[in-house]
Amino acid sequence: MNFKRSDFPEDFVFGAATSAYQIEGHAVGGAGSTHWDTFATTPGNVVRSEHGQLACDHYNRYEEDLDLMAAAGFDAYRFSTLWARVMPDGVTPNVKGLDFYDRLTDVMLERGLAPYATLYHWELPSELADKGGWRSADMPKWFGDYTACIMGRIGDRMTAVAPINEPWCVGWLSHSVGAHAPGLRDIRATARAMHHILVAHGTAINTMRELGMSNLGGVFNFEWANPADESAQSRTAADLYDGYYNRFFMDGVFKGTYPTNVMEGLGPHMPDRWQDDFTTIQAPLDWVGLNYYTRSNIAPTDGPWPSHKTVEGPLPKTQMGWEIYPEGLYNFLIRTAREYTGNLPLFVTENGMSNADVIKNGIVNDPERIAYVNVHIAAVLRAIDDGAPVHGFFLWSLLDNYEWALGYGKRFGLIHIDFDTLKRTPKASYHALKSALER
Ligand code: NOJ
Repeated sequence: MNFKRSDFPEDFVFGAATSAYQIEGHAVGGAGSTHWDTFATTPGNVVRSEHGQLACDHYNRYEEDLDLMAAAGFDAYRFSTLWARVMPDGVTPNVKGLDFYDRLTDVMLERGLAPYATLYHWELPSELADKGGWRSADMPKWFGDYTACIMGRIGDRMTAVAPINEPWCVGWLSHSVGAHAPGLRDIRATARAMHHILVAHGTAINTMRELGMSNLGGVFNFEWANPADESAQSRTAADLYDGYYNRFFMDGVFKGTYPTNVMEGLGPHMPDRWQDDFTTIQAPLDWVGLNYYTRSNIAPTDGPWPSHKTVEGPLPKTQMGWEIYPEGLYNFLIRTAREYTGNLPLFVTENGMSNADVIKNGIVNDPERIAYVNVHIAAVLRAIDDGAPVHGFFLWSLLDNYEWALGYGKRFGLIHIDFDTLKRTPKASYHALKSALER
């Protein structure tokens, strides 16, 4: 790496992130079925119909994984709790599931890793999905009860908690694009899900405050919307993409409103009296997390709203086909602080790349990932220099894992997983980070 810990402020936090369904192995420990299990089993949704039943078997191997985290010199571990493990049917507690997260927390603390928890990283208990899932106005209540259940057990030991990972993916990607569970392509479902997600977020924050917890935040994903050409039509199209991807959630939480250009499409489909929910949605936060990977190039189309498409851009790309554009990370850190959060601490809660890594004689060389991290860390340092209050950076991901609809073929890990033997092999990027993080 071409940076070192001492380039950053003294208390800057370095961590790595994972999520439960992507690594734990869902078939063990009494977890209930989730809408990702059925989405993955439905032909055509996921590459090779892969699912999370075994994943990285982290449920049984978490000590080894946390040993590797600690050995790399990380300060913090961003993980998620799995609703259907804590409450298999979405509402009834599972003692074994609660015990697992209790142990996991203690093992983190024993290794000097600060726990940064996420309550929902995309897998919804099937019984709640059957009742409408995020389309249902009951979701905030169910989510509040789940929050109280899991945080009633481990909340006393959390360094920081965020309710919902990447609201855009849970809302738009899953209900409008249909690329993630529940795989809908329905504008009414999208409008309702986008709004209920934020009400559930605020409800969970209020629930945790009532439990006496502090350091509560939100984790949002950002993608830079680049007009595909210089025309005014492309600018307007990119502004709309920026609106429903990035600004919808930030405007909701920090301004108590939704962007006008987004409401031109979603407005007629919103739930009744949605304007009354902003008191909950605007529950004050202590920090904001940004997940950032890439930009999109947007051009107008003649089709129905939102009347635009994404076109291939000219920049070098990762294995996902995502353009490498660190300027976007700089821009979002500055824009978030200036337009929304002021002095509130910001964290990069996810950044990283998938790469066609191969293991040869027990070694994985991934210079591409080292270069990707370097340019994004440089963007963070530049943003800090220019006044953005960035307090931490989390790599996505600790382990190669289940990349949702793209299955196990897309490798984001600092640690290689052989999905036949489940053997863990730290990659060159892991060793490079370890040297950079030395004190
Ligand atoms: C965002 C998500 O939080 C995570 O689940 C996913 O694997 C990475 N981005 C990479 O796509």
